[in-house]
Amino acid sequence: MARKSHPYRETKTRRRELMAQMEPNSIALIPAAPPRFRNADTEYLYRQNSDFYYLTGLDEPRALLALIPGRRHGESVLFCQEKDKLKELWDGILLGPDAALTELSVDDAYPISDIDDILPGLIEGRDRVYYAMGKDDQFDDTVMDWVKTIRSKAKLGAHPPGEFLVLDHILHELRLIKSGAEIKLMEQAAKISAEGHRRAMAYCKPGVHEYELEAELLYAFTRNGSRAPAYSSIVASGDNACILHYNTNNAEVKEGDLILIDAGCEYEHYASDITRTFPATGKFTPEQKAIYEIVLKAQEAAIEAVRPGAQWDAPHHASVKVITQGLVKLGLLKGRPAQLIKSEAYKDFYMHRVGHWIGMDVHDVGDYKIDDTWRELEPGMVTTIEPGIYIAPDNTKVAKKWRGIGVRIEDDVLVTKAGYRILSKGIPKTVEEIETFMAESAA
Ligand code: GLY
Ligand code: MN
Ligand code: MN
Repeated sequence: MARKSHPYRETKTRRRELMAQMEPNSIALIPAAPPRFRNADTEYLYRQNSDFYYLTGLDEPRALLALIPGRRHGESVLFCQEKDKLKELWDGILLGPDAALTELSVDDAYPISDIDDILPGLIEGRDRVYYAMGKDDQFDDTVMDWVKTIRSKAKLGAHPPGEFLVLDHILHELRLIKSGAEIKLMEQAAKISAEGHRRAMAYCKPGVHEYELEAELLYAFTRNGSRAPAYSSIVASGDNACILHYNTNNAEVKEGDLILIDAGCEYEHYASDITRTFPATGKFTPEQKAIYEIVLKAQEAAIEAVRPGAQWDAPHHASVKVITQGLVKLGLLKGRPAQLIKSEAYKDFYMHRVGHWIGMDVHDVGDYKIDDTWRELEPGMVTTIEPGIYIAPDNTKVAKKWRGIGVRIEDDVLVTKAGYRILSKGIPKTVEEIETFMAESAA
């Protein structure tokens, strides 16, 4: 596993901030992601556990960070793989505990092979253990094995921990608010994705396959230093656009289709998540345009609702209002908008929420509610804004000309002190921008 140097030096501050919020006399355990196997000894591309990477900057499996606030001999203790010539010949350079001390600024570092001998001693005497409980059976078992080791020495005066706490809450509150350095990486991820979207849009014409458009995305991602998409790319033509998580991506693009592309690269462990919808021929039909204009207006209204102090829910409500009013105007919904919103009639066409946190993970960590109420937006939070209208191909309640139209428009939006900043810029979005861009690309 090749080691990548960390692009910025914030991990030490993050560890300090996390420890400041831990209960007295406690220890936190954060494991690296294990390698995952496709079959036999062939591994999937390694992706570090975001929590572990956020606190260490180490991109290797078989490692664990222990945080022990107040420990006199060092509060940050890392276990990682030892340097090993043969292993490194096959899988790449390892950092090793010695270099970890200087490169990652941890206080202590030990070989992972010694963890069962050392870690119980670090847990012993602490009242509380924080870890991501109930996420990974194997890690749950391992923690309990360490506790059992301490219990077995109780007669010798060993003091096992009495409380186990979920680490997620305090750690994920930190991850939810992005620093300037993190925002720069997210902007870079979005910039690379924007190039992919432009390439796919420019390449599109009837007769190409969805996977050919996907290839344009992946080319731009990889060419610019992204090692993988942040999630499986959705390239959906025609009726496929009404399948929310479509990723078969093997249909032929037909004259008259709309193409919905929902794709974003991951760059330096930060995600982007962008959707554009455009006509295969470069020209919207009147029905496609009518639906598109509603979704665009809904997205603009939702983005305008992003500001510090606004409830998390406000952008969603703004989008629901515009979409319901728009569908009534087109005769696709019948009744009074206020009533249709109350009865959730719009959900036949707009069945998901307007967005989600985004950061190191595409559906990023952080609570949406505090004590059962939607939380308020704060500077440094990043959310997607992605309203859509999907008219099922078999929806016999609407005239045939509307059926099978699926439109979503998605951008990544940072909450700033003054309001918001769109991180995903530079991709045609209005009807006019798309039609002009596609006409110029075809020329
Ligand atoms: N691409 C997944 C999502 O938009 O949430
Ligand atoms: Mn998306
Ligand atoms: Mn999304």
